Amino acid sequence: WGGFGHITIAYVASSFVNDQTATYFQTLLRNDSSDYLANVATWADNIRYTKWGHFTGPFHFIDAKDDPPSSCDVIMERDCKSEGCVISALQNYTSRLIDAGRSLPAWEHEQAAKFIIHFVGDMHQPLHTEDVAKGGNGIHVKFDNKFLNLHHVWDTSILEKIVGGVRGSPYGAAQQLADQLVADIRSGKYQTESKSWLDGIKLDDVEGTALIWARESNAYVCTHVLPQGPKAIVGQELGDSYYDDAAPVVEIQVARAGFRLAAWLDLLAAKIAANK
Ligand code: ADE
Ligand code: ZN
Ligand code: ZN
Repeated sequence: WGGFGHITIAYVASSFVNDQTATYFQTLLRNDSSDYLANVATWADNIRYTKWGHFTGPFHFIDAKDDPPSSCDVIMERDCKSEGCVISALQNYTSRLIDAGRSLPAWEHEQAAKFIIHFVGDMHQPLHTEDVAKGGNGIHVKFDNKFLNLHHVWDTSILEKIVGGVRGSPYGAAQQLADQLVADIRSGKYQTESKSWLDGIKLDDVEGTALIWARESNAYVCTHVLPQGPKAIVGQELGDSYYDDAAPVVEIQVARAGFRLAAWLDLLAAKIAANK
């Protein structure tokens, strides 16, 4: 996701975490405002292009070598690179934050938290679970009268179009969208189905949990991102019908990511408190 997506996900999560979780992460992140998650949600993208952060590049995605639109699936052994992927990264930074042996300095716990807040979001972007043309970065299309790559359309353009455009600082618009999604989850269009969004979530099986989330995300590559396959979309203008089908997917994926991030942070804070 772009900054707007990650910040929205963080605000959704802030609304669902319990009080102990909020206090734990506010202390860890040294920010006692209500923006403590939102303010670090894009940090992992800022450091990935620096020299010292270069090794974290592969942690933002898992390149599923499947064959959309006929087959979509994520298989750990096949798709997670030896340098790592978003699933192994969530596994690694989750165990570093728990730090069962209590051997890591506080700054490493803080860094692990910032990676977790970002990567739970990324695995909900369908093209962050897909190998084809580097997650669509190599597929050029026209969207909203602009020449863009398909990855950018799904990271940024669709979500920004949903809210009528984002100009200047994304924080205000993200808070507004998050408030709407929180209302949809609590008492609106997601109320019933959101009960099942936490199915299978287990802090002691990070890979299993993340695979559930990544497979659900990757399934949209077959149904909504590349419904006619990759060759058919190259150079095309994505019209109203593509957007009308895609927008609800982007919206539900942002809502799920925020809701699940809150649950993950709750599990983490409870486990860490129990280890003390
Ligand atoms: N680079 C290679 N594959 C990618 C993907 N699926 N998403 C983002 N960047 C990538
Ligand atoms: Zn992306
Ligand atoms: Zn990312």
